Amino acid sequence: MNFEHLLSVKDLEKSTLKALIAQAIDLKKNPQKYQQALAGKSIAMIFEKPSLRTRVSFDVGIQKMGGHAVYLDQQNGAFGKRESVKDFAQNLSCWVDGIVARVFSQQSLIELAEYGSVPVVNALSDLYHPCQALADFQALTEQFGDVQGRTLAYVGDGNNVTHSLMLTAAILGVNMVIVTPPGHGVDGQVVVDSQKLCEKSGATLTISNDVSALKGVDAIYADTWISMGDETPFERIAEKFMPYQVNRQMMTDSGAQYFMHCQPAHREEEVTADVLDGDQSIILQQAENRMHAQNAVLLALLK
Ligand code: CP
Ligand code: NVA
Repeated sequence: MNFEHLLSVKDLEKSTLKALIAQAIDLKKNPQKYQQALAGKSIAMIFEKPSLRTRVSFDVGIQKMGGHAVYLDQQNGAFGKRESVKDFAQNLSCWVDGIVARVFSQQSLIELAEYGSVPVVNALSDLYHPCQALADFQALTEQFGDVQGRTLAYVGDGNNVTHSLMLTAAILGVNMVIVTPPGHGVDGQVVVDSQKLCEKSGATLTISNDVSALKGVDAIYADTWISMGDETPFERIAEKFMPYQVNRQMMTDSGAQYFMHCQPAHREEEVTADVLDGDQSIILQQAENRMHAQNAVLLALLK
């Protein structure tokens, strides 16, 4: 595995992605093998936005491999307020072996990587959420064995999570169906990047505003209709988004085997409670895998 930072999955080769997923599965099965893997290593975790899963899974995961995490909250980790991204990067590089950052702008991650001298991991930005996608494709690999040729659908607002799923699917040879309300689609450049990757892997990318495109998919994925940092009131979009709510009828009509969600989830908004909490839901497997997938990334970057 040969990569310096994890800013987006689009920078990773198929073999690297597959090796990271295999490593994550081994970390999950054999944690005792890795108890000292990060001994003596310190990692700064900068969060410009709130988090439950990402913050806790990085902190606990690093501790389980013998390393040390330093958490910088929204007050102490806010770029440009007390000091610039460049100064964060250069100062932190004096002490720590890696930087994990959840940021408003992907540009901040690019600058952290440019001005710092340690690996940088994207813990969510406006554009991508690569750690989430890795954990999700680990979950799909655990369910299906080889994921190549399977079809994953994403329904709802085209966002950071959607982008990382599209790119990961395209690299791994997984077909992707994206269904969004008109005007809430995915980023045009991410579509271009995904299509190029699809040409290489043989995967297909289908983009639609029509839920009938979900017919025949293996899993349906949902995320919040309003992402962090978006001040749109729920009432303004509710009517437009409601036909895209994942409910029992949609699961049945599509024939999907699994329901996925990165969480935090909003019952009776993007998904009904019966689906979210039902037998087909693998959301806690995804959440658990966050730690293993991220540990695999840290091992590859820091060891
Ligand atoms: N899925 C995810 O990243 O959750 P948090 O925002 O709680 O970290
Ligand atoms: N799209 C969501 C993901 C949260 C994990 C957001 O950016 O808020």
